Amino acid sequence: MPRRELAWPRGLEGRLCFGGDYNPEQWPERVWVEDVMLMRDAGVNLVTVGVFSWSRLEPREGEFDFEWLDKVLDMLASAGVKANLATPTASPPPWFSFAHPDALPVTREGVRHVHGSRDTFCPSAPAYRQAAVRIASELGRRYADHPALAMWHVHNEYGTWCFCDHVAAAFSSWLQRRYGTLDRLNEAWTTSFWSQSYGDWSHILPPRSTQYVPNPSQLLDFRRFLSDELLARFIEQRDVLRELTPDVPITTNYVLGAWAPANLWAWSQEVDLVSVDHYPGDARPLVTEQETAFVADLARGLGGGRPWLLMEQAPHHITARGYSLPKEPGRMTRLSLSHVARGSRGVMFFQWRASRGGAEQHHSAMVPHAGPASRAFKEVAALGAVLGKIAEADAGTVEAHVALVWDPESWWALRQPGMPAPDLDYDAVARAVHAALWRAGATADIVHPRADLTSYRLVLVPPLYVAADDALANLASYVDRGGVLAAWYLSGSVDLENRIRPGGYAGGLRELLGVRVEEIHPLPGDATVTLTTGETGHRWSELVRAESARVVSKYAAGVLAGQPAITANARGAGSAWYVSTQLDEGGLDRLVRRLVAESGGEPSSSPGLELVRRRSVGADWLFALNHTDADWSVAASGTDLIGGGRVEGLLRVAPGSFGVVREG
Ligand code: GAL
Repeated sequence: MPRRELAWPRGLEGRLCFGGDYNPEQWPERVWVEDVMLMRDAGVNLVTVGVFSWSRLEPREGEFDFEWLDKVLDMLASAGVKANLATPTASPPPWFSFAHPDALPVTREGVRHVHGSRDTFCPSAPAYRQAAVRIASELGRRYADHPALAMWHVHNEYGTWCFCDHVAAAFSSWLQRRYGTLDRLNEAWTTSFWSQSYGDWSHILPPRSTQYVPNPSQLLDFRRFLSDELLARFIEQRDVLRELTPDVPITTNYVLGAWAPANLWAWSQEVDLVSVDHYPGDARPLVTEQETAFVADLARGLGGGRPWLLMEQAPHHITARGYSLPKEPGRMTRLSLSHVARGSRGVMFFQWRASRGGAEQHHSAMVPHAGPASRAFKEVAALGAVLGKIAEADAGTVEAHVALVWDPESWWALRQPGMPAPDLDYDAVARAVHAALWRAGATADIVHPRADLTSYRLVLVPPLYVAADDALANLASYVDRGGVLAAWYLSGSVDLENRIRPGGYAGGLRELLGVRVEEIHPLPGDATVTLTTGETGHRWSELVRAESARVVSKYAAGVLAGQPAITANARGAGSAWYVSTQLDEGGLDRLVRRLVAESGGEPSSSPGLELVRRRSVGADWLFALNHTDADWSVAASGTDLIGGGRVEGLLRVAPGSFGVVREG
């Protein structure tokens, strides 16, 4: 089905969305009255309702109770707050698992979970599929014409794993569709190794617990299958809702964890508006900011450059290594504006009011346990006012001259057992490279390996381990036409079936990079190598033979002493660099700044000042976010959307503050 251009929650066109998950079922009705009043004070215009309300909406199988939700939606509508109405299918009620025990998820080890948390369902179980579609259609029918309805929020953070018999059957059918014949599957999975040849489709199981290392192709295909299977569950609900409410956009909130079996490139073809949840895992100064920029650029990339929505973030804390660390005054606002600068169509939180009980009773909220007379709520309300002033910037497209190639399948495959190092972390390398771009002041688009790269000056390729031939050809033709590209170790190493490409590691890019990787030298734990140009490498190193490439930097010591570490290959009108180790932060900064400069950019000289420009035919907008204690000024002229008045030549951005200027 072609993607629709329904990317504004209905009734909020031209305004940035502001609000969060609203769970009124946890509170008596008198609190609802205060909620709506406070929402108005804070400028809230959109709330996600009903996301975990299944047991309240359908207290017994097939018996529905919508009266409370009618009341909530009526109250919201009369206060001018729109509803991002959720289907509650991420958390089936206890009656469901008693009635349909076969629809509870089973772990790899064969343990069947019980209800008592959330996500206790098997995505392939017929009973779950029917129940999920039924509650979605009931909601769709009842609220199709409700004035509060602005958008559908299907499910919550699809990412559930299951290895049960329903899943086994669905996996087998998926494989039949993918490979057609068992011969092809046996060939693709190299089942000649360890006597695994299959003679019957029904003998192929999900990768359940087994004696020793499982088949790597089976593991990768299972993740692909699970992504497709979960996506099919989204589509089932979406299609019912679309039929009932063709003009209401439909989304689902993505979770970006390594555990989530969702290839979001495919998912983003199916949603009307990409929406993501972002919970950074590191509270150190500037590190959270870099993570935020990565997630925002990724969300924009997933939507093909279109606007997207930050659906959830924690209002006032960052959970790092188990500690809920407070966001310092002003930080929540700057992080939120970084999302908006990078294309988010608003700022949403989990959740509106802090829960008194339940598993997340200590989670921060827009209205904290301390109530509205708090710094936290005041900052929320102030952010609501800021969003009201800068909504026009949504018309601009984020300007980016650099692309970072992102590939979840490489992420998945590198984490599998049986790899030559147990800590190959694609996501960490991708984020480190993106963070170096952030520090260099270069806004990046995050793109699919097969994306059209022609508009970029520089393309960075973190370990693109799994790659299709046409993806590799895409990179090569970008360089041939004059682009500057840098690829990290292990890129181009395996085909789509997870089989090593011949010719040495990185074999699929050998010609483009002008190198042959003869040996791999993983670096366990804290082991490091030094480079002749002063950098330190960790995690990984290699014996690289330069074929046509020029050597930029060599290993300085150890068994690899004197061998190439970083190379650059002139090819066609462009150049292709190869980075064979994981550089320390300083080394990565030097490399990335050099690449930015060589490809015609100008690396930033104001560290910690985040500048993002959005351009449109009629106007440009500059976002300047000062995440430091230093006083920065930035060249800008135009209308100051925050303070009002004009900026002539120089915008001062005080420590911890921000500015948004309509230029011209
Ligand atoms: C999200 C989830 C929310 C809430 C939040 C807490 O992943 O969608 O329901 O659990 O985390 O941080």
